[in-house]
Amino acid sequence: MEITLTDQTAVIFGAGRGIGEAMATVFADAGATVYIADLIEENSKALAEELKAKGHKAVGVKCNVSSYDEIDAVLAQAEEETGRLDIIINNAGIVGLDSFLETSQEDIQKLLNVNLMGANNGMQAGIKRMMKYDHGKIINTASFAGRHAMKEGFAHYGMTKAAVIYLTQAAAYAGADHNINVNAICPGIIRSQMWETILESYEQAGQDKETAWTESLKHFIPLKRGDQKAEDIAYTALFLASPLADHITGQSINVDGGAAMN
Ligand SMILES: NC(=O)c1ccc[n+]([C@@H]2O[C@H](COP(=O)([O-])OP(=O)(O)OC[C@H]3O[C@@H](n4cnc5c(N)ncnc54)[C@H](O)[C@@H]3O)[C@@H](O)[C@H]2O)c1
Repeated sequence: MEITLTDQTAVIFGAGRGIGEAMATVFADAGATVYIADLIEENSKALAEELKAKGHKAVGVKCNVSSYDEIDAVLAQAEEETGRLDIIINNAGIVGLDSFLETSQEDIQKLLNVNLMGANNGMQAGIKRMMKYDHGKIINTASFAGRHAMKEGFAHYGMTKAAVIYLTQAAAYAGADHNINVNAICPGIIRSQMWETILESYEQAGQDKETAWTESLKHFIPLKRGDQKAEDIAYTALFLASPLADHITGQSINVDGGAAMN
């Protein structure tokens, strides 16, 4: 069975690289027109050009997800240019490594602004715009770190992701009357730029980077199938965006090799 999204419009926030880039590529391959929205404009535009060169429909735009107005403007642009709005993915995120007592007020605020307000803004603005079509799929990227606190740190990062899991349920209630499904994916460990940043901090603390990576995988991930790829998350997003998932809403799905089982 093949999943196709022909003629659908998908707006993906935080799509300039990493997991979001894989989502944009997989959704474009499935036939959707993809809006690649990212804080780093050159990444959005470069990916859009790459996809267009393969014959896909793609638009690269700059957007800071901390701003409701900027998110809403991208959604408005997608609607104006394509006449529809079928899928929104709130994937933008930043990491915070510190433990509970170490995290500064400034860092807590930054994490809240991007990870929580970004997802909140995408869901609020998205549902308000999708209501008139009486259908829609919204997908958030949370994390296994949002399932339970970790001794290793990531305290306020995990807090923002736990809040995204909660808001996914609240938004699913809001969307339900209008056939808008809202779900989240909780990835495990994927070696994106985000994990490179984490490994660099381990390196600064005197560890060998590659050993730290292997040890992290061993420590967090029970399944021994090898590294999880950004595409593994993108395929779950594709499933959630498809009619196969029409009766799934308010769920947060762990795609993490067993890192969290709750
Ligand atoms: N990599 C992992 O192991 C992992 C695990 C669990 C969850 N996640 C989540 O997956 C998502 C994607 O992360 P990734 O691993 O691809 O990291 P990444 O750093 O490669 O990508 C994050 C993207 O979000 C963009 N972004 C950051 N702040 C933004 C803002 N204010 N407005 C718009 N865009 C912004 C970045 O420019 C970047 O393109 C994040 O929400 C992250 O928390 C990642």
